[in-house]
Amino acid sequence: MVSGIKPANRLKNLKYSGIRRFFDIAKKNPNVINLSVGEPDFVPPKHALDAGWEAMEKGETHYTSTNGIRELREALAQKAYHEYGLNYDPDTEILITAGGTEAIFLAASGLVNPGDEVLIPNPGFVCYEPSVLLAGGVPVHVPLREENSFKPSSDDVISRITKKSRVMILNYPNNPTGAVLSHEEAASLAKIAVEHDMIVISDEVYEKIVYDDAKHSCFASFPGMRERTLVVNSFSKTYAMTGLRVGYVYGPKELISFLWLVHQYTVACVDTLAQHIALAALKGPQDFVKHMVHQFDKRRQLVHKRLMEIGGFNCSLPKGAFYVFPNIKDFGMSSEEFAEFLVREANVVTVPGSAFGVHGEGYIRISYAAAYEKLEEALNRIEMAVKKIR
Ligand SMILES: Cc1ncc(COP(=O)(O)O)c(C=O)c1O
Repeated sequence: MVSGIKPANRLKNLKYSGIRRFFDIAKKNPNVINLSVGEPDFVPPKHALDAGWEAMEKGETHYTSTNGIRELREALAQKAYHEYGLNYDPDTEILITAGGTEAIFLAASGLVNPGDEVLIPNPGFVCYEPSVLLAGGVPVHVPLREENSFKPSSDDVISRITKKSRVMILNYPNNPTGAVLSHEEAASLAKIAVEHDMIVISDEVYEKIVYDDAKHSCFASFPGMRERTLVVNSFSKTYAMTGLRVGYVYGPKELISFLWLVHQYTVACVDTLAQHIALAALKGPQDFVKHMVHQFDKRRQLVHKRLMEIGGFNCSLPKGAFYVFPNIKDFGMSSEEFAEFLVREANVVTVPGSAFGVHGEGYIRISYAAAYEKLEEALNRIEMAVKKIR
């Protein structure tokens, strides 16, 4: 028996992700329809995958610079300029990371001191709180309320800012709610960040996945924000490349240098072939993204329409990402019980809203990053199951 096998104290508050638990149920049962995962069911553009083969044949199988390959950083600098009018120096202000996940971890590790308070959205993407906790920070939950369309109200943000608050994490288009901020709403949050001298980690991995009249504004483009914002982004969702693990961060030189320090000793550099695939995806035709978002739009309308027809679910049509986050309180079950009920009675896997924080209780997350026909079948099954209890 080895007596010293026990986790480091810093792991004490980390929990098993609630998404993972339902994802594992889905993996074990081939008859379930899995609407729990946040990854597009599309194959990345062929020209991008071909670039991966070519890079392999050319022997591009070695370390790249810690920041990532220069062509990719240059292409990302051009992207920021063309899309948002933002200038970032490819050498010092852009870092290629192992997905948005690593970028968030690096940002927390590089910026948060023990005892610092970090404002995080609740419900919110599952890696924010653990990243803050591992850095010794204190997560302070800003509720995203249904009555405010899952956007943080100024009062809720300001009332949680103390002398210890240094960093605020924002995520629009939002996971798990599908909410999108208007230009004015983002501007008023930016104003709060400036007035209270906060650094913002703006997670924009769903920037391209918006619908109807919604338009995404990069948070760094608001007055006073470029110098205090780390913009986290990723190839995972935009190009359906979740498994290739390429993300990136834009930010002012000094902030990026803090992230770089941690990145060099953890990941060293992102997979070289994956970086070449990402580069080709970014530089090639963008019709893939248009097509994918168009398909998501059809699925979004289907899921929302069917939930409204079935009854008992309450939600408005989300404007971004690929999630619907209906209120299920009328069913008289907790969100965990309701998600378990759907697995048992409908063979459909969703994620209980509580997996995204206490303010997610009373909701479930349905991902519509699954084929249209699967979604049709899943909603028929949900209808049958729900009929038994209504
Ligand atoms: C809001 C949000 N941020 C970041 C990520 C991380 O994505 P990746 O690490 O694949 O880039 C996800 C993935 O689901 C997400 O939903």
